[in-house]
Amino acid sequence: MTGKVPDDLLRVSDLAPQTLVELLDLAVGMKQEPLGWERDLRGGAIGCVFEKPSTRTRVSLAVAAHRLGMAAIVLNRGELQLGHGESVGDTVRVLSSYLDAITVRTFDHAVVEQMADAASVPVINALSNTHHPCQSLADLLTLREHFGTLAGMTAAFIGDGTSNTCNSFLAACAASGMHLTIAAPPGYETDEDILEEARSLMAQTGGSVSLTTEPIEAVGAAQAVYAEVWVPMDKGHEREERTERLAAYRVDDALLAHAPREAVAMHCLPATRGQEITSEVLDGPRSLVWRQAQNRLPTAQAVLHTFITTARRCTA
Ligand code: CP
Repeated sequence: MTGKVPDDLLRVSDLAPQTLVELLDLAVGMKQEPLGWERDLRGGAIGCVFEKPSTRTRVSLAVAAHRLGMAAIVLNRGELQLGHGESVGDTVRVLSSYLDAITVRTFDHAVVEQMADAASVPVINALSNTHHPCQSLADLLTLREHFGTLAGMTAAFIGDGTSNTCNSFLAACAASGMHLTIAAPPGYETDEDILEEARSLMAQTGGSVSLTTEPIEAVGAAQAVYAEVWVPMDKGHEREERTERLAAYRVDDALLAHAPREAVAMHCLPATRGQEITSEVLDGPRSLVWRQAQNRLPTAQAVLHTFITTARRCTA
């Protein structure tokens, strides 16, 4: 790894473009030879602190750890003293003395930052309300496998422009020199700070981001069309409003008819079939969704290996 590896992976923008490419390259190698790195971290362990449900992230991290010779200890909030008043700082300080990395899925991104500040081992964001970097690595790997290259690619994100998946995909596009159009309804526009950070990086990588409220306009030149759940885990109380406001932001065959013939459909899952994406698209020939899910494993393996080996070298 020649790119700089940060102490923690909290957001995609923590990764320099070169580091991102090298993580994807490593994931390709790990996909081809899953047990080729099992000696490097043998006897180690990661903690998976999950305050929200997860299928893909939790299992891919656990299997990735196993393939690297490590144990994965899943820690649900209610099973920790954290759920009974012990502070985040005290918890993480102690966990750092047992574990080689702490992965965390939580609500407020500030909690992930707090954990990273208190930890002496890498903290990997397994999803916060504002960022989902592990997902974006799998997204990029999937697109690179399909199209051969990322720089110059065009993509459209349809729906909730404030979502963690959108924020992280935007940052991933920025680092990769991609052109992204986000189609979101009023009230669901991507945060200006996140846009500004992406634009600043895109000025160096050659990418671009544009905004619209019109899904048809967004997909017109898109090689990849990304659908996102309308009602995320922490927004159940907004279900009715979101379902109504996002109703025109469904990725279906009618929308994809406006996209180039080569356009593929993406979704991070879990999907609400018939809402943000139809079964015809999800299970159809243009879907890269299942490959995206599959690629969570080698990218998780690459992240764990890279961050843990770098941290060990720094403390040796
Ligand atoms: N995409 C994703 O993060 O899936 P899970 O919520 O199942 O982990």
